[in-house]
Amino acid sequence: MRYLVTASEMRRFDENTIEKIGIPACVLMERAALAAAELTEARCDGRGGYVLVMCGMGNNGGDGLAVARLLAERDFRVEVWCVGNREKASPQWKQQRSILEKYPVEFTDKPRRGDYGALIDALFGVGLSREIKHEYAEAVMLFNSLEGWKLALDVPSGIHSDTGRVMGCAVRADETVTFGFCKRGLVFYPGCEYAGEVSTADIGISERSFYGRKPEMYAYDEEAAQLLPKRQRGGNKGTFGKVLLIAGSLNMAGAAILAARAAYRTGAGMVKVITCAGNRTILQQAVPEALLGTPNELDRSVEWADVIAVGPGLGKSAEALSCLEGVIYGSRLPLLADADALNLLAEHPELRAALAEQGAAGRKVILTPHVGELARLTGQSVSACAEELLSCGIALASELHAVVTAKDARTLICGEGHDVCVNLSGSNGMATAGSGDVLAGITAALLGQGMDAFEAAAVGAYIHGRAGEKAVGKRGEYGCMAGDLTAQMRY
Ligand code: ACO
Repeated sequence: MRYLVTASEMRRFDENTIEKIGIPACVLMERAALAAAELTEARCDGRGGYVLVMCGMGNNGGDGLAVARLLAERDFRVEVWCVGNREKASPQWKQQRSILEKYPVEFTDKPRRGDYGALIDALFGVGLSREIKHEYAEAVMLFNSLEGWKLALDVPSGIHSDTGRVMGCAVRADETVTFGFCKRGLVFYPGCEYAGEVSTADIGISERSFYGRKPEMYAYDEEAAQLLPKRQRGGNKGTFGKVLLIAGSLNMAGAAILAARAAYRTGAGMVKVITCAGNRTILQQAVPEALLGTPNELDRSVEWADVIAVGPGLGKSAEALSCLEGVIYGSRLPLLADADALNLLAEHPELRAALAEQGAAGRKVILTPHVGELARLTGQSVSACAEELLSCGIALASELHAVVTAKDARTLICGEGHDVCVNLSGSNGMATAGSGDVLAGITAALLGQGMDAFEAAAVGAYIHGRAGEKAVGKRGEYGCMAGDLTAQMRY
């Protein structure tokens, strides 16, 4: 499991390892330093060369001092640059410093050279608690301006380890070696861009240290593909899910087309689109495999379906509202609500309350809001939602007893309670109109094949991201359109 931990979770696991299991702090530090020294040696093509280690006064700085010692033992010429008031240094730092004094390293109050083979950032780790200012900010700027391969220990200094936010300024690393478990801020933007390539080193803090309280968040990538439902050999089109898609107001036929295509390309046996009369011809031509229906025959279509997806390009007309009412009050089928269905839910508390009741009674419900829709649903500003995507997603999931796919540069899948996972697949080029419609179609098809709602949402986000990566690989970040995603889906 690729856990993503907060600073406070990491501190708890660190303390449990030291106090309850009995592995001394200096052993953990030594193992962290060894992992960083080995990585440095590998990147510097073996021994020798100049290395700069920038150390703060906390335990991250202590890790840095230990790395300096191990590199000196491997014949590197090491400059140790300590920033901060030494009287405030942690006990572990002082111990490492007194050991290091017996080694041939140079202590300096500013970097002396311009030709370091490696520069190691050990200014702040998970202990960063406020904006970086004054001498620390100057140190970060100077460190960034120096040439050479840069390695951050645990977290690049200046990146908030829970959110990935830049706290004033931050080190830009080529690589980050994080210790024990990966920190959330290394996966979220902009932290992941500052971290460079991230590796997680085992330093002896294991799942044993959870003592019944495991981390709340984890990341996933290609392992999601293993959850795809097995395609039964003796199946027919009725076996693989009948998706009822209610989408596409006048002038928004494209949303229905994209979602219908995506559902078919994710294995749906049949897709029926209920759309406004003016879209029929274009839909029939663009997706001849789809069945078509009108809002008037909603009841019959609901009886036919295994899953309902409502919202892409739907608009907020009286007809759209009546369709949404129909699938909430008139059905208990698994339901995916996207786009305008979410906007309607935000404006109609009675519908929202009914959906919450059904979710509590076990109806499978997935909501797929982007930040703007999430803001409408939670009554927060868009910027507050962007900053607090996680807590907004969890709050909505808990209120509606549903799964929320909170879409942003990193999409979060939030379940009831505090289950959260982060999809790592995807690319910049997917930030384009219609991309959400594709995700809705993919996820609905998975629900229709009987998947659990949380897994369907997680696997859906993964498939969507992979299709985006492939489309961008072919078309480039600028050239990718939502239709390219469905063209690239292959399983
Ligand atoms: N400006 C100036 N100072 C700041 C700022 C800021 N913006 N933000 C935080 N600080 C200070 C804090 O006040 C703190 O000092 P204080 O303890 O006097 O309050 C200090 O910076 C904390 O810095 P860090 O080194 O980031 O945090 P910590 O000391 O908690 O160490 C840790 C982090 C455990 C080393 C982690 O990042 C890590 O690398 N873990 C690897 C495992 C390991 O080595 N474990 C054993 C460590 S020893 C032990 O746990 C006892």
